[in-house]
Amino acid sequence: MADKVHYSELGLVNTREMFAKAMSGKYAIPAYNFNNLEQLQAIVTACAETGSPVIVQVSKGARQYANETMLRYMAMGAVKMARELGSQIPIALHLDHGDSLELCQSCVDSGFSSVMIDGSHLPYEENVALTRQVVEYAHRYDVTVEGELGVLAGIEDEVMAEVSTYTRPEEVEDFVRKTGVDSLAISIGTSHGAYKFKIKEGEVVPELRFDILTETEKRLPGFPIVLHGASSVVQEYVELINKYGGKMEGAVGIPEDQLRRAAAGAVCKINIDSDGRLAVTARVREYLALDPKEFDPRKYLGAARKELIKLIKHKNQAVLGSAGRV
Ligand code: G3H
Ligand code: 13P
Ligand code: ZN
Repeated sequence: MADKVHYSELGLVNTREMFAKAMSGKYAIPAYNFNNLEQLQAIVTACAETGSPVIVQVSKGARQYANETMLRYMAMGAVKMARELGSQIPIALHLDHGDSLELCQSCVDSGFSSVMIDGSHLPYEENVALTRQVVEYAHRYDVTVEGELGVLAGIEDEVMAEVSTYTRPEEVEDFVRKTGVDSLAISIGTSHGAYKFKIKEGEVVPELRFDILTETEKRLPGFPIVLHGASSVVQEYVELINKYGGKMEGAVGIPEDQLRRAAAGAVCKINIDSDGRLAVTARVREYLALDPKEFDPRKYLGAARKELIKLIKHKNQAVLGSAGRV
């Protein structure tokens, strides 16, 4: 295990102040997943250039992929890079979908400023107990904690039929009070990945359950809500992927106007992973198809990074409203 370090030594911040400002300013903080150098460079560049606070987040799998020590210094490098670009944006390093107390503790110890404990699949009381344990540990170090109530529909599931997996608003106050979490992820019809709804040609995607969001806001006034599975599944990228040898038929996501509506309400954090993956894959496929002799990763990953910067700037400026908030 790597030596212990506190996130403040890396120049990172927790999510408390970012969320308070996002709540009063009626916008959402972007939480972009990353696994490698080019993704992190793109996030920092785009957020520094648009003046957007940002949460850079890694899943358990991403942490294994990147190496925990490497990640710590990447996060520290991200802060320094932003400052060298002349930007004072706050940056939080967050564990996405932590699945155990041990993993959350390890992330707190290695410099994360925020962790998610996802006990949403557990029976309610077990979710409360696990989340409470994580909060007790994390708060000792002023690390903020995200919990989850309600399970996001799986990629194979019919979202409209999955009523039982939506967040039950009648549980949210009790959960927040008993656990002490700093933010709460809810399930209102989004899902992870690139295939969020099964719709036929010409059909529109079903609207998110804004009634559940509204009821949650009523019961938890001013409390930060998190939206997972919030990629729009940008069709331009799906088309490029399919044009250059990919096979992603039927990939569809959350329309931007619904994300804008969520961000204007109590949703303070919007998670985006799949759109970034699509942007990278589209440009890498295109680059290699058009220039089959090229074998310098800087060329095709550079093209991917450029596209990612464009995507993130668009999200910050035109969807989440987080641009120019620093
Ligand atoms: O919600 C999950 C994120 O998109 C991370 O996915 O576990 O494949 O890194 P991953
Ligand atoms: P997407 O798959 O919609 O990008 O969601 C990512 C996410 O929720 C990460 O926790
Ligand atoms: Zn998620």
